[in-house]
Amino acid sequence: MTNIVLSIHGLSKKFSNCTVLSDFSLDIASGEFITLLGPSGCGKTTLLRLIAGFETPDSGTVLLEGVTLLNLPPERRQVNTVFQSYALFPHMNVFDNVAFGLRLKGIQGQKLTSQVENALAEVKMTAFTDRFPGQLSGGQQQRVAVARAIINRPKVLLLDEPFSALDARLRRDMQLELKRIQRELGIAFILVTHDQEEALSMSDRVVVMQDGKVAQVGSPREVYEEPNNLYVAKFIGDINLFPGTVTEQLADNTFTITLNGQNLPVVTKKDLQSGQSVQLLLRPEDLRLSGEIESGMPFFHGSIVERSYRGPTLDTTILLDNGTTVQACEFFDEDDPDFDYSVGEKVKVSWVKGWEVVLPDENLV
Ligand SMILES: Nc1ncnc2c1ncn2[C@@H]1O[C@H](COP(=O)(O)OP(=O)(O)O)[C@@H](O)[C@H]1O
Ligand SMILES: [Mg+2]
Repeated sequence: MTNIVLSIHGLSKKFSNCTVLSDFSLDIASGEFITLLGPSGCGKTTLLRLIAGFETPDSGTVLLEGVTLLNLPPERRQVNTVFQSYALFPHMNVFDNVAFGLRLKGIQGQKLTSQVENALAEVKMTAFTDRFPGQLSGGQQQRVAVARAIINRPKVLLLDEPFSALDARLRRDMQLELKRIQRELGIAFILVTHDQEEALSMSDRVVVMQDGKVAQVGSPREVYEEPNNLYVAKFIGDINLFPGTVTEQLADNTFTITLNGQNLPVVTKKDLQSGQSVQLLLRPEDLRLSGEIESGMPFFHGSIVERSYRGPTLDTTILLDNGTTVQACEFFDEDDPDFDYSVGEKVKVSWVKGWEVVLPDENLV
């Protein structure tokens, strides 16, 4: 990777006996928008606190532009944090909240005013300089928190679940705003979220975390279309799993899988053995029902248990005869008069050839 701004290497952290991060490594490019995605308790906040200097790691390094941060106090690291709660000073107006850090550094007068004004303009809060936090909406408070965090042009901005207090509509607006601000400033943003849609839509790269480690890091498209393992697959988006068994290896990266008594050649980079149990992962939009099934494709019998019309798509829940439930999401085809199902209707379920992702079976709860 060219131009690494932040390099995290072998970071480990335990609280009493509980390992929160173990051997966590990640390089972040300058100007990159990277998202840490994982369930509650997987160590996301702890990682940000280690980068910001509010916690000390048990082992490992954090380098900013090649220089270790670990012996610097938080205020001397060129890293700022936007906290989940915004952490604005309630008794100070917007101007003073944003000016706070600069004043601590001894900046005053016209220089102070113009820097505060620039930061407020960046987040479109120029009209609110005299208001107090209690007189602002959640979204406006968040803009002030961002202005305060970017005013001294940090090299990296850390954002810990910044949208969790906002309703769905405002959340979408603020996501777009934050993307715009990040593009304009060219600062690397590390955003923490447990919302997979947010991670996919905002990021240059997504880091999926599992038990204090990196489960996968890649572009949104890579983690969605080529998940490394079932954990990542289940965490990112809706999935359908079809169980199968490896029968033989046909060539490098090509295997025959038997599923539901039918054979299918598949291509995968995974190292599979004959007789091994696998799961074929298909997204709802990959599935095809009855009349749409390609000849030669394996299929499963099932019956419709639920259907819901969603405007552009029809979403269908199907209970397969093998006892598993799958979800299909199909775009409306106006030319197809049969494009609808009744609950209880028998259907065959298959998918678009080649769209399957083959993953070794794991016992996931
Ligand atoms: N200061 C602390 N002392 C003890 N345990 C902590 C402390 N901070 C976090 N933890 C524990 O570390 C784990 C990870 O926490 P956290 O990093 O906040 O996760 P996340 O932000 O992904 O939800 C949790 O089990 C949490 O209870
Ligand atoms: Mg957290």
